[in-house]
Amino acid sequence: MRAVVTGGGSGIGAAVAHRLADDGFDITVADLEPDAVATDLGATGVRLDVRDEAQVARTMDGVDLLVNAAGIGSTTSAPDTPVEVWDDVFAVNARGTFLCCKHAIPAMKAQGGGAIVNVASIAALVGLKNRAAYCASKGAVVALTRALAVDHVGDRIRVNAVCPGTIDTPWVERLVGNAGESLDALRARQPMGRLGTPEEVADAVVYLATAEFVTGTILTVDGGLTAA
Ligand SMILES: NC(=O)c1ccc[n+]([C@@H]2O[C@H](COP(=O)([O-])OP(=O)(O)OC[C@H]3O[C@@H](n4cnc5c(N)ncnc54)[C@H](O)[C@@H]3O)[C@@H](O)[C@H]2O)c1
Repeated sequence: MRAVVTGGGSGIGAAVAHRLADDGFDITVADLEPDAVATDLGATGVRLDVRDEAQVARTMDGVDLLVNAAGIGSTTSAPDTPVEVWDDVFAVNARGTFLCCKHAIPAMKAQGGGAIVNVASIAALVGLKNRAAYCASKGAVVALTRALAVDHVGDRIRVNAVCPGTIDTPWVERLVGNAGESLDALRARQPMGRLGTPEEVADAVVYLATAEFVTGTILTVDGGLTAA
């Protein structure tokens, strides 16, 4: 079984790639920087920009499982968001996810079925402060997930999404480093008093990838953050 993991070069995508490799999938790590993880896994690495339709189309041949983990963030309220930032965030998170699904689905259909797991965020479900573009883009990913699940259930293609809470990846390191957010403040708002691990998100991705009666499901993996 061939699995393509976008964003597989770091963080959540890298943990998913490791876990799927352990489970016997033939992995393609598709990322702007795929090499370190691909080499580590002895997997195929593809330098992919998910915004580029021609590159995406070339990457999806023969795919059985697609995990869309490539993503970028934003750290401003709407009035403070330059339109270029809005467009970049949507280009990677919403358009990129759409393009990968658009080209994976015909390949899956030709093989009699497949599965897609999109990595959205709790930002799709609750308003996070100073994340206007990011919240909206992940909302688009959740809505797209449901639309695809309905359109392709008859093709034996299941489409689901995970909504991680705050997960300990280089992403959070950048938030703390560049956007001046405090790690203690991030931890303090977690009901479990800690951030999630990329491996804990990978567990949920593997569940959605393999649960045969589950499609159109949006699964939060947030340590109880949105239950409050
Ligand atoms: N870390 C968190 O707290 C958290 C929470 C909720 C959702 N998420 C989502 O999880 C996903 C993975 O995030 P992460 O925390 O592992 O961050 P990360 O920065 O460690 O990994 C993101 C990866 O996406 C790749 N990427 C970025 N733009 C790309 C593009 N145009 N084409 C191809 N690859 C591209 C990067 O190179 C990087 O390897 C993202 O979609 C993010 O929105 C993260």
